[in-house]
Amino acid sequence: MKWIAHRGFSGEAPENTFAAFERAIENGAAGIELDVHVSKDGELIVMHDEHVGRTTDGTGWVREMTVPELAELDAGAWFSENDRGEQRVPLLDDVLAWIPANVLLNVEIKNIPYAYERIEKKVSDTLVNHNRVENTIVSSFDHACLYRLKEWNAAVKIGLLLNFRPVNMEGYLRLFSPFDVHSLHPHASILQNNDVERWQKQGVSVFPYAVTRKSDVKQMQAFGVNGVISDAPPGD
Ligand code: G3P
Ligand code: CA
Repeated sequence: MKWIAHRGFSGEAPENTFAAFERAIENGAAGIELDVHVSKDGELIVMHDEHVGRTTDGTGWVREMTVPELAELDAGAWFSENDRGEQRVPLLDDVLAWIPANVLLNVEIKNIPYAYERIEKKVSDTLVNHNRVENTIVSSFDHACLYRLKEWNAAVKIGLLLNFRPVNMEGYLRLFSPFDVHSLHPHASILQNNDVERWQKQGVSVFPYAVTRKSDVKQMQAFGVNGVISDAPPGD
């Protein structure tokens, strides 16, 4: 069962920073999940929240800040004294320039369409520029945004984040026609009995998130998921 490190190894390092990404790979992650927003000057910024207040020493909305302003922020101090002054807010460009080719990248587009017009186009173009379409999944709770992404570039793999359980998954996946859905990323708690097996028969991989307790990991293994998106290695 693959481990996709949620915001990097966020159980041990400040989320969505290079410390967390490097620590994930050192600890055997098959993939790295991260979140993106758009800055005032139009760059893709790696951060979970749309406001910088929780994970940096600054204040303000990402969409109202420029890259030079974001570069001033300390993205490690909130997490631990050891990380103080050590971590900056990465650009997606920085991560793509660094990430090893064999590590799966899962870029989550934060679903704030009113703020980020055509973010899906930016994400696709950035992946193309870095020759990184192949080993990347772009996910979002905003499925219309993922559909637009496929219209822009059908080669990009999309993963549907699910916090609800479609009763008829076959019918739900047909909504994306003529495009393929690569994977489903459900909240672990919505999975029932043989969902995973049935969904995989539709040609999709299944990567649940919010897998924290040992019992959740065992349950996901029993379901036969392709991997889990979690803050720490599932074996720990
Ligand atoms: O990709 C799964 C997970 O990251 C979605 O939730 O809030 O951690 O971005 P969140
Ligand atoms: Ca995420």
